[in-house]
Amino acid sequence: MPETRTFKHLLVTGGCGFIGSNFVRSVLEWRPNVRITNLDALTYSGNLENLTEIEGHDRYAFVKGDITDGPLVQSLLADCDTVINFAAESHVDRSIQDASPFITSNVLGTQVLLQACRNTWADDGKAGRFLQVGTDEVYGSLPLNEPNLLFTESTPLDPSSPYSASKAAADMLAMTFRRTFGMDVLLTRCSNNYGPYQFPEKVIPLFVTNLMQGEQVPLYGDGKNVRDWLHVVDHCEAILAVLEGGRPGEVYNIGGNNERSNLELTHAILDIMGKGKDMIRPVADRLGHDRRYAIDASKMKTELDWQPSRSAWPKGLEDTIRWYQDNTEWWQRVRSGAYRDYYEKMYGATAR
Ligand code: NAD
Ligand code: DAU
Repeated sequence: MPETRTFKHLLVTGGCGFIGSNFVRSVLEWRPNVRITNLDALTYSGNLENLTEIEGHDRYAFVKGDITDGPLVQSLLADCDTVINFAAESHVDRSIQDASPFITSNVLGTQVLLQACRNTWADDGKAGRFLQVGTDEVYGSLPLNEPNLLFTESTPLDPSSPYSASKAAADMLAMTFRRTFGMDVLLTRCSNNYGPYQFPEKVIPLFVTNLMQGEQVPLYGDGKNVRDWLHVVDHCEAILAVLEGGRPGEVYNIGGNNERSNLELTHAILDIMGKGKDMIRPVADRLGHDRRYAIDASKMKTELDWQPSRSAWPKGLEDTIRWYQDNTEWWQRVRSGAYRDYYEKMYGATAR
């Protein structure tokens, strides 16, 4: 096992989104001496309500701002020894509609953060750590008929969507700051997350909240596409393990070893919620829809002794559905805002 690295003050970007908010909440609980500054632009998916429980916490500060704002980032970094970059445009369908915000936030934003780290940490002689939160989508698509094929850390990058291309560019930029300037940069690449506070454009909260409103669920194409589902708190634990024990310049794949076809996932949601198959509405396929993602996370196990503990199926899914059932005000507020227009454009007349 590599030596455990300790840190005092994290700059978390995108901490008001789904994974970032779960990470901020978990790390404040798990590491009682760590301070967190959360820099978030509060785009459509950023929501201060995701962190109401920790408002006023003495080791937490929120700053509203954009990661493309170099002077702001640099001023915050003066007091931080670590950056974890969650901030991104994260939804594939939106990147198909318009790629430009993805290039700005995901590519330019990552470069600005890296440059600010280099300026700050080179100037004061201290070496901080930069963790770029990446995605398995950068590897492209696996075939359905070769179930033993998995994404490893050395699988070539082959992104299919503007979203995954922007994340691949960010990963590569981050690694150049390692190679060119010797910075302490590392990457994680994770499979599909699910859990509390996920924006209801993503398939699980979209389907669950549609069903709670008596609406059908729009299943793309033949429903045979496969995703590897990981509970978000398992992902947070894995990121922390990489932050504390990962080696500079390394990539770490994170996954749930929990492959499900979309049809299987949909049937599980319908069963848990006591709904019939007539609630499925087959719709046109996503353009460039990746067939299968599946992660080999053995490096996380052998190097960092991490493996998922909350993703057992269908328990993790049942817990998640219950969370949305218990937190109707949260998602009703989210769904009634600007998101309504997006939903209607995507899914048409039956939208609410
Ligand atoms: P999300 O859309 O829920 O949250 C993104 C957050 O980033 C929001 O709070 C938003 O306000 C903020 N943000 C966006 N652009 C910003 C900018 N320019 N400056 C500052 N803040 C900005 O996304 P998520 O699902 O929580 O994903 C977080 C990260 O994890 C992303 O980098 C994503 O690529 C990666 N990831 C997600 C998954 C998944 O299944 N959701 C899996 C693997 C990796
Ligand atoms: O693999 C990691 C990635 O997982 C992250 O990098 C992305 O940020 C995250 O959004 C997620 O990407 P996906 O495209 O896999 O997630 P999404 O929830 O959009 O879709 C999951 C599957 O469900 C996918 O095969 C498409 C299908 N789907 C999705 C929606 C929104 C439907 O059938 N109907 C839908 O309405």
